[in-house]
Amino acid sequence: MPAQRAIVTGAGGFIGHHLVRALKADGYWVRGVDLKYPEFGTTVADEFELLDLRRWEQCETAMRGARGAEVYNLAANMGGIGYIEHHKAVIMHDNVLINTHVLEAAREEQAERYLYTSSACVYPIYRQQSPDVTPLREEDAYPADPEDGYGWEKLFSERQCRHYWEDYGLETRVVRFHNIFGPLGTYDGGREKSPAAICRKVALARDGEAIEVWGDGSQTRSYCYVDDAVEGMRRLIHSSHRDPLNLGQERLISINELVDLVASIAGKRVTRHHIAGALGVRGRTSDNTRLRAVLGWEPTVSLEAGLRQTYEWIAAQLAARSAAAPAPLRAPAVAPLR
Ligand SMILES: NC(=O)c1ccc[n+]([C@@H]2O[C@H](COP(=O)([O-])OP(=O)(O)OC[C@H]3O[C@@H](n4cnc5c(N)ncnc54)[C@H](O)[C@@H]3O)[C@@H](O)[C@H]2O)c1
Repeated sequence: MPAQRAIVTGAGGFIGHHLVRALKADGYWVRGVDLKYPEFGTTVADEFELLDLRRWEQCETAMRGARGAEVYNLAANMGGIGYIEHHKAVIMHDNVLINTHVLEAAREEQAERYLYTSSACVYPIYRQQSPDVTPLREEDAYPADPEDGYGWEKLFSERQCRHYWEDYGLETRVVRFHNIFGPLGTYDGGREKSPAAICRKVALARDGEAIEVWGDGSQTRSYCYVDDAVEGMRRLIHSSHRDPLNLGQERLISINELVDLVASIAGKRVTRHHIAGALGVRGRTSDNTRLRAVLGWEPTVSLEAGLRQTYEWIAAQLAARSAAAPAPLRAPAVAPLR
């Protein structure tokens, strides 16, 4: 029997690189697509194509022969809160083009199933104003008041998936990730998210030194390890659930507590120096009631276990980098579309 086929966009990125590995380990034939090759480690995809998915013709190339295949659309211009708060126009521009074109090309090629990676940033600001936030249920996304820029675009693309099912019968799935972290993710350059940034700062700090923390550090989030994100995505695409589904952990932790946890993993005493910075909402966590009901499963890797893996990987990267010639911090990878 021929291998099941999958096309993964964003396969040069953090979650996409992990997803390709998992699919290959399961015997899939995989085509990866991205603007760039994976930064950390070589891809194991059968084909890896450098394409700009903002462009329609390049999406047609990416999706060619998709009939019967699973399409995982992870490509996005994105980053941590500091990046998404300051690049709203380009994020909306790029991601609307990517998602519109990839979805339409997948439909034209009669892909078997299509999974879109949305975000907890779709949830309304008015439900996330306290660090002691009520966990967010899928239906809480409306009435809409999402994160400006990135969150609006995610909500729009979620809706597009729904209408492609209703109008064309394309089997679409939508996952709402809540802060995915783990090794092989961006840890500097401005696009990194809080767990990676904190791991980097702690790894670079000497014992007893202070690290910078944006805001008062009492804002809360929940964090989900990348292996669980991959497992959940794969379970969801094979399920019959067409509405958006949370994928995250329910455990709420403040940024200050996260710093303390990473410091204890590193075996360092680290103090916090609070500075002005992008903060996002005051509190955000996932309600996994529907996740459990739909998939009969939920993320299992503890924050401690996941952070240990992540810290050790980032510390090793930094050590290797300082042993070599000092590298400049990376500039944002995506060039404007002309
Ligand atoms: N990591 C998280 O915590 C998180 C949370 C919520 C949602 N998501 C979503 O999950 C998906 C994957 O996230 P990630 O953390 O792996 O991000 P990432 O930035 O590591 O990966 C995204 C990839 O998309 C590629 N890309 C950007 N523009 C492109 C273009 N025009 N053409 C082709 N490729 C392009 C980038 O080069 C990058 O490799 C994204 O859609 C993101 O919005 C992630």
